[in-house]
Amino acid sequence: MATEATRSNDWKFGLQFSVMLPEHLDQVLAIESESFPVPWSHQAFMFEVTENDLAFYIVALLDGKVAGYAGMWIVLDEAHVTNVAVHPGLRGRGIGRALMTELLYRAAVLGAARITLEVRVSNRVARNLYKSLGFVDRGIRRRYYSDNDEDAVVMWLCFRDARH
Ligand SMILES: CC(C)(COP(=O)(O)OP(=O)(O)OC[C@H]1O[C@@H](n2cnc3c(N)ncnc32)[C@H](O)[C@@H]1OP(=O)(O)O)[C@@H](O)C(=O)NCCC(=O)NCCS
Repeated sequence: MATEATRSNDWKFGLQFSVMLPEHLDQVLAIESESFPVPWSHQAFMFEVTENDLAFYIVALLDGKVAGYAGMWIVLDEAHVTNVAVHPGLRGRGIGRALMTELLYRAAVLGAARITLEVRVSNRVARNLYKSLGFVDRGIRRRYYSDNDEDAVVMWLCFRDARH
């Protein structure tokens, strides 16, 4: 699925979006390691962008550098957000919202009827972001995160009735 060439958007502060490519991975890994207690490996991202036909990843570029990224898996008409992160020095400027908005648009275009994600109970920033985009809390996965046994909130957003 991750075969499309770069797509650019005129964002109000010069942000551009691209499908994540192997050449982005060093910068993605740097953000990943500063954003998550159990970061994904280079190998894991490489598999996602080069081999996993169910995966779709984007990067947000500022002046050609990776400012953030987001990804999902799409299985039939269901999308599952796997990760979203913004460079720590660039947070709070709307980049996370722009990334998620782009990802939701792509999910809908690629045929998803609904999209889900897990988020740490303590992650107020991300939960606020998802809620403001229309995601609703639908359940709890107990001790989902292995590093500290924290619970995950399961959130869903429906684009359309799956029967149509
Ligand atoms: C979550 C994350 C991607 C948000 O990116 P960001 O660029 O900082 O977010 P934005 O500036 O676009 O803000 C989007 C919304 O998030 C929420 N938010 C952002 N900063 C916040 C803060 N300090 N406190 C509370 N809510 C906040 C708000 O709802 C905000 O919308 P608003 O500005 O209209 O009020 C970013 O904080 C990050 O990379 N965190 C570490 C990785 C992570 O936790 N990823 C999510 C895993 S589920």
